[in-house]
Amino acid sequence: MTETRPRHFIDGGEISGGRLVTLIDRAEELRAGRPQEGGSALTGKSIAMLFEKPSTRTRISFEVGTAELGGHPVVLRGSEMQLSRGESVEDTSRVLSRFVAAIVIRSGSHENVVSLAEHASVPVINALTPLYHPCQALADLQTLKQRFGDLNGLKVAYVGDGNNVARSLAVAGSLTGVEVVVAAPSGYQLESEVPARLTEDPIEAVSGADAIYGDVWVSMGDEESAAQRRADLAPYRIDGHLLSHAKHETIVMHCLPAHPGEEITADVLYGERSAVWDQAENRLHAQKALLEYLLVG
Ligand code: CP
Repeated sequence: MTETRPRHFIDGGEISGGRLVTLIDRAEELRAGRPQEGGSALTGKSIAMLFEKPSTRTRISFEVGTAELGGHPVVLRGSEMQLSRGESVEDTSRVLSRFVAAIVIRSGSHENVVSLAEHASVPVINALTPLYHPCQALADLQTLKQRFGDLNGLKVAYVGDGNNVARSLAVAGSLTGVEVVVAAPSGYQLESEVPARLTEDPIEAVSGADAIYGDVWVSMGDEESAAQRRADLAPYRIDGHLLSHAKHETIVMHCLPAHPGEEITADVLYGERSAVWDQAENRLHAQKALLEYLLVG
């Protein structure tokens, strides 16, 4: 049976495991060829990038990546669109589809992104919603493959808040043979349906792990409960003590932005076991490979 090409990339489950590995390999080719080779995959194509929330890595990597592939990025802020004055997501989607070859969107509403995709005649890419961050997971897989050569059989221990990043990591891991263990306290854990092993014990989670993964404790939208979250998540800090329970070769990952001293100590974030900066760079390569795949095939 031939695989159906996905139109959208919303929860990360639209792309098969085999195709994800091919996409990661292509991302590695793009990394190796940069900056010498100019791309032409998106020549003549404009890509809308609608950001309703702040972003450093995602917005800039999509903008730079589109330009490097020969395309034209059209960066849009929700507050400057008629969306902010009540124009519907559906009509916005219909209109953008007449102008651009794809829509990248970061939104505070996952439902709005799903609705945008349902009414779009061009591919829609989720650049983060409260539920999923699938583009981050692509870069995470690329980083793991860079460091370990093969994804299949790896174990990643996500430690901290069971959020959109953890959920997307679990989805991507389950498709590519990476075991994801999420260590989070009660009230911060992912739902049991997520394809990950769930535990409250961070030390048990990092035992035997190839990578330890962290994210901020106060995500966008969580500001009102910041003090409570910091107190509840304090035992889940990624520090030297936690690393001492992992293997010597275990790497440390973080999607950034980080708060050194809070969810991760500075010595770990900036230390020799940190893969965080390669992980950030890989956002660019992985998203270029995704754009090629969705728009060119
Ligand atoms: N990791 C991530 O999505 O970073 P930004 O919020 O800066 O895009």
